[in-house]
Amino acid sequence: MTQRILVTGSAGRLGRAAVAALVARGHFVVGLDLKPTPGLPESQSVVSTLLDTHRLSTAMTGIDCLIHLAATPDDAHFPRPAPPHDADNFESELVPNNVVGAYQVLEAARKAGVPRLVLASTGQVVDGHLDDGNIPVVASAAYKPRYLYACSKVFLEALGQVYAANHGMKVLAVRLGWCPRDAGQVAEIRASTDDQDVYLSPGDAGRFFVAAAETPAAKLPPFAPVYVTSRPVRHLLYDLEPVKKLVGFEPQEQWPTGVEEF
Ligand SMILES: NC(=O)c1ccc[n+]([C@@H]2O[C@H](COP(=O)([O-])OP(=O)(O)OC[C@H]3O[C@@H](n4cnc5c(N)ncnc54)[C@H](O)[C@@H]3O)[C@@H](O)[C@H]2O)c1
Repeated sequence: MTQRILVTGSAGRLGRAAVAALVARGHFVVGLDLKPTPGLPESQSVVSTLLDTHRLSTAMTGIDCLIHLAATPDDAHFPRPAPPHDADNFESELVPNNVVGAYQVLEAARKAGVPRLVLASTGQVVDGHLDDGNIPVVASAAYKPRYLYACSKVFLEALGQVYAANHGMKVLAVRLGWCPRDAGQVAEIRASTDDQDVYLSPGDAGRFFVAAAETPAAKLPPFAPVYVTSRPVRHLLYDLEPVKKLVGFEPQEQWPTGVEEF
């Protein structure tokens, strides 16, 4: 059945993959981003910040499924420099976009009665388990965030749990693998076999978002965290069984499929 789906961050790397896959399935997709969304007519491309609550709530009207991707992603280099050069973009970007913005999005969804939310989290919320060698990391593993960006995603997941528990929404927190945003990130992944194991192709990302939107509500618990990557090249670092069980998603691609555009 055709759904009305709102994708925030729709002009970004993963947003474009989600929009293309959902449109190809015949869904009515509305995008919301700071810039126009490629692949959508102007009438379905809302150009707005998450912090504009009026535009956000208008975009949320009548939505069956929200895919919330808009955020400041992690483009920091690791290992981080020692203080005082490790300030990161916490106050200037992560707090307004990933913390306050996330709250505004979930509030707008609650007020509009959106029944399903897919929230873009990251494997970085459990990064410490990879360092400890506890692999594949299971979905129930305690948080061991990598740094401040990962902390902002722990907050997003916690918000998702709270709204699922109190407002009857189905919430999937998807801990996404690494879908590179530029040629520099492609080069980083090429140089690291661990990174190749957590690579996420745009094609697999699009298939996941379709599966997350189309799975019947009765099959979903109120809240679940799931990992989504493409097929690992060497080692399975994140447990991909829950996403298969919950929404029937199995990755079809593997590094480096999908990086051609860089
Ligand atoms: N790409 C990855 O490897 C990866 C991995 C894990 C998690 N994620 C998460 O997935 C989501 C999408 O990541 P991406 O790689 O597509 O990033 P991206 O930077 O390509 O896209 C993010 C989009 O969000 C928009 N945006 C940012 N702040 C906004 C605001 N305040 N209001 C409206 N729009 C805003 C930007 O304009 C951009 O188009 C993010 O939440 C990111 O943290 C990405």
